Amino acid sequence: MKGIILAGGHGTRLHPITLSVSKQLLPVHDKPMIYYPLSVLMLAGIREILIISAPSDLAGFRRLFGDGSALGLSIGYAEQAAPLGIAEALLIGADHIGTDSVALILGDNIFHGPDLATLLRRSVRELDGCVLFGYPVPDPERYGVAETDPDGRLVRIEEKPAEARSNRAITGLYLYDNEAVAIARRLRPSARGELEITDVNRVYLERGRARLVDLGQGYAWLDTGTHDSLTNASQYVQTIEHRQGLRIGCIEEIALRMGYIDRDACYRLGMGLAKSCYGQYVMALAAPQPLLTPVG
Ligand code: DAU
Repeated sequence: MKGIILAGGHGTRLHPITLSVSKQLLPVHDKPMIYYPLSVLMLAGIREILIISAPSDLAGFRRLFGDGSALGLSIGYAEQAAPLGIAEALLIGADHIGTDSVALILGDNIFHGPDLATLLRRSVRELDGCVLFGYPVPDPERYGVAETDPDGRLVRIEEKPAEARSNRAITGLYLYDNEAVAIARRLRPSARGELEITDVNRVYLERGRARLVDLGQGYAWLDTGTHDSLTNASQYVQTIEHRQGLRIGCIEEIALRMGYIDRDACYRLGMGLAKSCYGQYVMALAAPQPLLTPVG
């Protein structure tokens, strides 16, 4: 399975912060926002990743990750000339996807929870059509909304409905088989002029090939769209990290634990950041000791 991180857009709800910096490079406590969705793809076992962003912002992502080899990944980059819809990522990424399946994740989505890695890998393994991830929210009208029947089967998907029929938001992580590219190619822009990811998902639903996985209790899906929610996300990460002494979304740690890099490589990555607590944490990971704690 290939991975795509969509990290474009104007970030207008975060102005003036995002006037000169990409939203997905803003800090969420101790690391850039894009580390979190990247860590989700890595935990799912995905190593070939395309980052799509605005032409003016791509240089920042390249500076951060290079070709990804230091993390045992292969990271490529592509431009989205204007933010004309999330589904456009499937068109821009068509060559990258090739004949493979794909996990598309929004660069501003933060997921955290127990056994996230297991859940993700199972969802990838059992993919047949598309898998969407649902999360209960108090304000579903702001999102894609999923409605299920009493047996938990997906029956309806709506994008930002005036009156939501459930409180289940569809999060910004989508697993698709290779059909997604052909489906995206047939899309027409919506009334707001965008190629809607919800329209892709609806085609899968109509074909009976869309499945919803509920991120239930114990999971956090954090919003970073406004000044308040960005601060709240930072505080959430800070609180958990201080309390547990573990880091959320630490890509060097995940690379080590997934076997993408060895301890020497991890140590070198930590050394490069040694003046920060983050770098010291990464260096300590590389010390020869049993890895007992779960990743997530
Ligand atoms: O976060 C989950 C929600 O994301 C889903 O529930 C919705 O179904 C989906 O439409 C989307 O809703 P948003 O209103 O959050 O979409 P927004 O336009 O804010 O874009 C989400 C992120 O994707 C944001 O960081 C900008 C980036 N983006 C968006 C578009 C439309 C791009 O990079 N390019 C784009 O063309």
